[in-house]
Amino acid sequence: MTRLGLLTSGGDCPGINAVIRGAVLKGTIAYGYEFAGFRDGWRGVLDRDLVPLPRTAVRGLSRLGGTILGTSRTNPLMDGGIEAVRGSLSSLGVDALLAIGGEGTLAAAQELSDAGIKVLGIPKTIDNDLDATDVTFGFDTAVQTATEAIDRLRTTGESHHRCMIAEVMGRNAGWIALHSGMASGAHAILIPEHRVPTLQVARWVESAHHRGRAPLVVVAEAFVPEGQQAPYSPRGLDTFGRPRLGGISLLLEQELKELTGIETRATVLGHIQRGGAPTAFDRVLATRMGMAAVDSAAAGRWGTMVALRGTSLVNVGFQAALGRLKTVPEDRYREAAVLFG
Ligand code: F6P
Repeated sequence: MTRLGLLTSGGDCPGINAVIRGAVLKGTIAYGYEFAGFRDGWRGVLDRDLVPLPRTAVRGLSRLGGTILGTSRTNPLMDGGIEAVRGSLSSLGVDALLAIGGEGTLAAAQELSDAGIKVLGIPKTIDNDLDATDVTFGFDTAVQTATEAIDRLRTTGESHHRCMIAEVMGRNAGWIALHSGMASGAHAILIPEHRVPTLQVARWVESAHHRGRAPLVVVAEAFVPEGQQAPYSPRGLDTFGRPRLGGISLLLEQELKELTGIETRATVLGHIQRGGAPTAFDRVLATRMGMAAVDSAAAGRWGTMVALRGTSLVNVGFQAALGRLKTVPEDRYREAAVLFG
């Protein structure tokens, strides 16, 4: 009997459990596959730490946030290497891996696949920055959560006649900022793809304030402040060697207060955006991706990831999938910027 190993790696994301459920149900019903889940991503593969995933283990999972398997940012290529992964899979009788992950995870999966290990990828990131798929599950939930939080900042801002700054996630791209900012009617949206002088932000804030509004600024954590070459990153690197972001809104708080004289408060939404139950949209997309991954395994389409194109699920080779980030195009930013100030 074919035995597939599921793992979730990198940052978690609402919808992962729906992927697991979709894969296990489709795999057992349609193909008679057996499933096991590795605990904490590649750490579980290297430590041979896995749990059986019969059909009963995935009951009611689609509405549950997080991942029942746990996740980590363990990089298999640095922490054990290709042969350690191969040895582990063969000793556990796991024929192939379904890796649910973002850009870092998929890069590792590509190297394993190039070395002959059967791997399929399922893209996952709240950032929505993978170019090969129209949208990643988790993004819709993150935008919804951020919008609800920003709406709340709005009412307290109005009571106090303050400028409120909401900082949202997005390591390489400003999608969450653009969408939650537009949805909440922000007076300025700041994203990494577009440089904006702080004086211009101050002008937008003042203009909203003069109309009797409580100015609202939505900033992506990776926004590059004036005079800097890279995003604000005071917390070093993660295990994939990427800067840990967060805190730019606190710098802006000081600068805007000094430039405008308006009392200003910054809030970093942080991991609240990654937690909680997925939206219906994300549940459906994630379930379909899990099922499509199993179909891909049955068809032997190893070395690919499933991707959404329009309403269809397709397979894209790891190489092509990892080639380009999906950043916010200039016309999308300009479209939103008409409403600033
Ligand atoms: O890539 C998803 C993401 O949530 C980014 O938006 C954020 O910069 C990063 O992960 C945070 O990672 P961690 O959970 O390791 O702090």
